[in-house]
Amino acid sequence: MPLELAIILPTLNERGNLAPLIQRIENALKPVMDDDGWEVLVVDDDSTDGTAEEARKLARTDRRVRIIQRIGRRGLSSAAIEGFCATAAPFAAVMDADHQHDPALLPEMLATLKADEADICVASRFAEGASTEGWEQPERERLSSLANRAARLITGVKMSDPMSGYFMLRTSRALELTPRLSGIGFKILFDLLATADATLRVRELPLKFAARREGESKLDRAILFDFLAGLYDRTLGRVIPTRFALFGTVGGLGVIVHYTVLTIMFTGMTATFWKAHTIAVLVAMSFNFWLNNWLTYRDKRLKGFGRLLSGWIGFCATCAVGGFANVAVATLLESQGVFWALAALAGILIGSVWNYALSSRFVWGR
Ligand code: GDD
Ligand code: MN
Repeated sequence: MPLELAIILPTLNERGNLAPLIQRIENALKPVMDDDGWEVLVVDDDSTDGTAEEARKLARTDRRVRIIQRIGRRGLSSAAIEGFCATAAPFAAVMDADHQHDPALLPEMLATLKADEADICVASRFAEGASTEGWEQPERERLSSLANRAARLITGVKMSDPMSGYFMLRTSRALELTPRLSGIGFKILFDLLATADATLRVRELPLKFAARREGESKLDRAILFDFLAGLYDRTLGRVIPTRFALFGTVGGLGVIVHYTVLTIMFTGMTATFWKAHTIAVLVAMSFNFWLNNWLTYRDKRLKGFGRLLSGWIGFCATCAVGGFANVAVATLLESQGVFWALAALAGILIGSVWNYALSSRFVWGR
């Protein structure tokens, strides 16, 4: 039979979960389609536990399994998009690889779509009849339902779980929306719904949200941040890119750090001005490096002493160049009769753009 369904499994360190999950998918689909009617696409972001190797091993003896290994890229949403783009199957499902999502729902999702009763089927953790033994921490469940309520307001779609990670739709529909998706973070379903402007007919199926089988959640701490970044991205992000906005905010905080250190050293400890100022520059630069690494470049975070040290040196070098551009532009403008505060602002802007461009390329670029 022709290929009908692709099951996209985004993975980050899920090695032990893969083989048993593919077995469960096979069991779930056996009654409704031939063995060659479906394929599994493992989209792995260069896991350190050998997930991609494991997928290759499985794929060598089972042609229904395919592997897309991405290097230097991160993100659940973009991994799902990668999957849509890489399959010839007319229907595509996205699900977690950790067994929290029950493959037994796949046949009903597919039947609903084929009967054209809906454009997208979503497994909901909050629908009537769903159960949630999989919630490891109660605060995570509360956060999720809060994010869901906000998402409902924004998408205008009346559904119980627009943040679910388990859904199915026509691949062509997903591809049609893809050029307008933000692709940032984990909320791919929310993105699809928001981008489609409530034109997708949604059918929700209650999900028995199970506990993760092996390994640990990758989204726990990041979820609120991702959500806020996603909101920003959909609104102001069109004018000022999200990353640059974060970089700028960090820069602003750096100025506060700078003044704090300067004030303490210069007035409190009566250091000479140039000494106090130099130390303040160093502290502020290090602070900015640390915060950018932690926040702005969360997905490309430098880890380990060696990489951190070379990153820090690179960042300081970048700032030196940016600072030079800053002073040069400001001085030039001021000498041309531009009001001093405006000239300074122009210098700061040019310097920041410069710092941003250089550091995203040379410090966090891979
Ligand atoms: N390729 C790739 N890249 N896969 C990733 C990434 C990434 O950056 N981050 C996570 N994954 C994979 C995981 O390996 C897993 O298969 C799946 O995406 C979901 O990640 P979990 O870490 O298990 O997420 P969770 O259980 O905490 O979050 C659940 O709830 C979210 C909404 O609250 C999931 O169902 C999410 O899909 C859902 O959006
Ligand atoms: Mn999970």
